[in-house]
Amino acid sequence: MRKRQIIIDCDPGLDDAVALLVAFAASDMMDVVGITTVAGNVPAELTLRNARIIRELAGRGRDVPVCGGAPVPLLRDPVTAEDFHGSTGLGNIPFPKPRVRPSRANAVNFLVRTLRTAKGFPITLVVTGPMTNVALALTMAPDIREGLKEIVVMGGADSEGGNITSHAEFNVFADPHAAQSVFQSGIPTRVLNLDVTHQIRTTDDQVERVRALGSKQARAAADLLAASNRLEEKAKARVAPLHDPSTILCLLRPDLFEGPQATVSVVTETGERFGKTVPDYREDGHVLWYNQADADAVFSEMLGQLARFGE
Ligand code: RIB
Ligand code: CA
Repeated sequence: MRKRQIIIDCDPGLDDAVALLVAFAASDMMDVVGITTVAGNVPAELTLRNARIIRELAGRGRDVPVCGGAPVPLLRDPVTAEDFHGSTGLGNIPFPKPRVRPSRANAVNFLVRTLRTAKGFPITLVVTGPMTNVALALTMAPDIREGLKEIVVMGGADSEGGNITSHAEFNVFADPHAAQSVFQSGIPTRVLNLDVTHQIRTTDDQVERVRALGSKQARAAADLLAASNRLEEKAKARVAPLHDPSTILCLLRPDLFEGPQATVSVVTETGERFGKTVPDYREDGHVLWYNQADADAVFSEMLGQLARFGE
């Protein structure tokens, strides 16, 4: 059976970087067709650089294109999250400078061109940052939905409340107009929102189990997870949720996640609820709003996948 083809649109970011490593490790289950980057946790030139660093760390510098994307949100003023990712976006971990250049194509043109040629075997689009690139691509070329199997998004919150304001989760808050456009597109979408990612936190002991795997990729993943825990503790006095890796892990092990179908709207009017996601739970909704996960099994799956580096 042909492996799932995925594109990862991301804003690396410590947890985006771990998600990329897990996806590259799971190469028997999924092909990473390309990586597109967007401004988010840190500015666009840094998210592009960071995606290239992780691509080369995984040994995929020669076969997986990295395309830089939107430097600012659709309408609102840009926001970043250095408090949770460090000034470089990768926790100031001293990774080697990337050597392989990014693609000359920008992210939106890469998405349009690649999805237009995927109509015979649709691609899964994983989005772990603000949805600016995806909204722009859908606006430029509505026909690309025929090349999309589904969208898997890390973003939003309902019962958990927000993590960047009391109502809003960062990825949606950073570009609520783009999120509204994607959620309202009608494309089958799975959402790893805070209601479920807050259930999956990687303890320091678990981080050391990742490090003990021994490969340079696993040791880097441990460094990324540890940095995330330190920054989360500084900001919120707790260890970090496994936000972005959960998008890859729910593709690998959908049996470990569950939630209701819904339609989702986003508050785009300015005010204290700006960027809040509002799920309407209904069986005919095109959005699967995850709100439950088997956290221990999810960590074991991530550990098992990262163990494949160095096999
Ligand atoms: O709210 C968590 C999300 O915001 C994650 O994707 C993290 O990388 C940041 O982008
Ligand atoms: Ca992210």
